Amino acid sequence: MTRILTYGTFDTFHYGHMEFLRRAHNLGDWLAVGVSTDKFNNIKGKQTFLPYETRIQILSGVKYVDLTFPETSWEQKRDDIIKYNIDIFVIGDDWRGKFDNLGDLCRVIYLPRTPDISTTQIKNILSFNR
Ligand code: CTP
Repeated sequence: MTRILTYGTFDTFHYGHMEFLRRAHNLGDWLAVGVSTDKFNNIKGKQTFLPYETRIQILSGVKYVDLTFPETSWEQKRDDIIKYNIDIFVIGDDWRGKFDNLGDLCRVIYLPRTPDISTTQIKNILSFNR
């Protein structure tokens, strides 16, 4: 069984997220998603439209997602890869090169983003500029 891992905020869940999760799951058999907590987003200087519990609720209902767990720090990735026995770390190509250092533990794949849709765009439409 090939085990896949990704991380993200997945705020205002949209088609680009669904496409990403579909392609991520198709790289193997089992997909875990580390979802950034509201506290971790605060540390990053980001505020979400939807709280952590709601973002988790949506992701848990997606058929491509087998496990969700909280992402609370930048440093946890290596421990998570070992804990969940991960074969492939995958993330969108907006992060290209940023996680190559995990390559000693598993394969690292950057998937092309779906064009013309993002949380930032949706927040702008909602005039959510908190
Ligand atoms: N993603 C994607 N295509 C999009 C939007 C997101 O493939 N159009 C991917 C990202 O590359 C990431 C994952 O979905 O691996 C989670 O994305 P996230 O950063 O939570 O959402 P964005 O819409 O990219 O949010 P923002 O506008 O804040 O960057």
